[in-house]
Amino acid sequence: MNQEKVIVIDFGGQYNQLVARRVRECNVYCEIYSYKTDIEQIKAMNPKGIILTGGPNSCYEEGAPTYTKELFELGIPVLGLCYGAQLMMHVLGGKVEKAPVREYGKTEVFVDTTSPLFTDVTPTTICWMSHFDYISKTAPGFSIVAHTADCPVATAENREKNLYAIQFHPEVLHTQEGTKMLYNFVRGVCGCAGTWRMDSFVENTIKEIREKVGDGKVLLALSGGVDSSVAAGLLSRAIGKQLTCVFVDHGLLRKDEGDEVEAVFGPNGQFDLNFIRVNAQERYYGKLAGVTEPEQKRKIIGEEFIRVFEEEAKKIGAVDFLAQGTIYPDVVESGLGGESAVIKSHHNVGGLPEYVDFKEIIEPLRNLFKDEVRKAGLELGIPEKLVFRQPFPGPGLGIRIIGEVTAEKVRIVQDADAIYREEIAKAGLDRSIGQYFAALTNMRSVGVMGDERTYDYAVALRAVNTVDFMTAEAAEIPFEVLQTVMSRIINEVRGVNRVFYDLTSKPPGTIEFE
Ligand code: XMP
Repeated sequence: MNQEKVIVIDFGGQYNQLVARRVRECNVYCEIYSYKTDIEQIKAMNPKGIILTGGPNSCYEEGAPTYTKELFELGIPVLGLCYGAQLMMHVLGGKVEKAPVREYGKTEVFVDTTSPLFTDVTPTTICWMSHFDYISKTAPGFSIVAHTADCPVATAENREKNLYAIQFHPEVLHTQEGTKMLYNFVRGVCGCAGTWRMDSFVENTIKEIREKVGDGKVLLALSGGVDSSVAAGLLSRAIGKQLTCVFVDHGLLRKDEGDEVEAVFGPNGQFDLNFIRVNAQERYYGKLAGVTEPEQKRKIIGEEFIRVFEEEAKKIGAVDFLAQGTIYPDVVESGLGGESAVIKSHHNVGGLPEYVDFKEIIEPLRNLFKDEVRKAGLELGIPEKLVFRQPFPGPGLGIRIIGEVTAEKVRIVQDADAIYREEIAKAGLDRSIGQYFAALTNMRSVGVMGDERTYDYAVALRAVNTVDFMTAEAAEIPFEVLQTVMSRIINEVRGVNRVFYDLTSKPPGTIEFE
């Protein structure tokens, strides 16, 4: 890609993907690389700017992540954030120590608005601080351009060399003018023109796909989720009927979802492609009969998906490319990760079968963040309903039905969930809550309805706010909305006589129930 580019060097902080997302919001393309990346590789990418992220270490300790001094001598503007700022000072001859006062949270910061970093920023503004160490002495050639009550060096600059060190986190939204500061760095200091736009991404990617695929055949497993749908849209616009999409309806989708996917991508939809829908409900319910253990359910659903897909692929015969809807966070996490424990197996992240006969993988979305995938989807004319769809796990309702999965339970949870989603949308909350859904507990209890004793299931409602799905908090849904949902579910969904709202955050809970 012939894009102007900013490189984010990752020192292991929790907001690192956010840094990259904010830079892209300034219409500047950027990529994240580990601090272990060789300087020659960085140079070869010819970046317009470099950003060093935060991280959990103390830069003066032995073995702490570091970077060669040469990085600051390339003539490329560098911005250090938090750990990155401390490291810049440490490497260039300043001093970093344990702070007498640990700063955490929203903090008033006084900035020198003559600094190019603070153009149009108000002189007293709010920033997000989170640090144990602090810069006690700036490196030679640097001057202080921001401070707080407890932090003498909230920002230091060497304007001549275009080196900037910010102790706080401009990437976090609590820093009220943080995006402006990052904009000032990438568009002002680095001089990026801001050419990263989704309309040109779509156009360029279509061209690239055509060049790469030639007259070859492409096979894509379409799940109906945002990523595979946008991948299908792009490929279809690029190569039309050379693309075949296999959509496996495993009977664990949300209410009417299979038909909605078919309406968009099927023969009567707006895209030119070969669409194969496999109705595998009975097959799945058969395999899942009597199975209650969550990981076993996940495994069965995942493996069965591969079996079905493989059977369809065999009918199609050899293809040249297998397309996947991999997105940038998957790439970053698989490149840098490996240390976090596997809490649940996410079958559709790990990739698809070896058994399908293809020569190469094609991943048209591998450079995009989720919000960019959505924008690309809108550019392609994919309906908003699909583009802004809730995240939905690969194993589907299979992990939202606690205990054994049966056709009857699937019907109950589909109907309850549809009511919940409808009422959330009616209350205007659908875009503001991170993720929300109904699940079916394995609990039955006694109730009374129309003078009759009932012994029915309890539905659990879940709604969480989350930035990255790694942590989450229960969303505060107005009580009236919950009451309406409860009364509609009990009245309209046969087999349910109780509704719970789940207050658990993550951790200790997970977002899904299994
Ligand atoms: P948990 O339950 O792990 O969910 O807190 C975090 C996010 O991941 C989604 N999720 C999955 N997504 N395959 C997926 O593609 C899976 O197996 C899977 N399990 C959970 C979940 O919906 C939430 O957004």
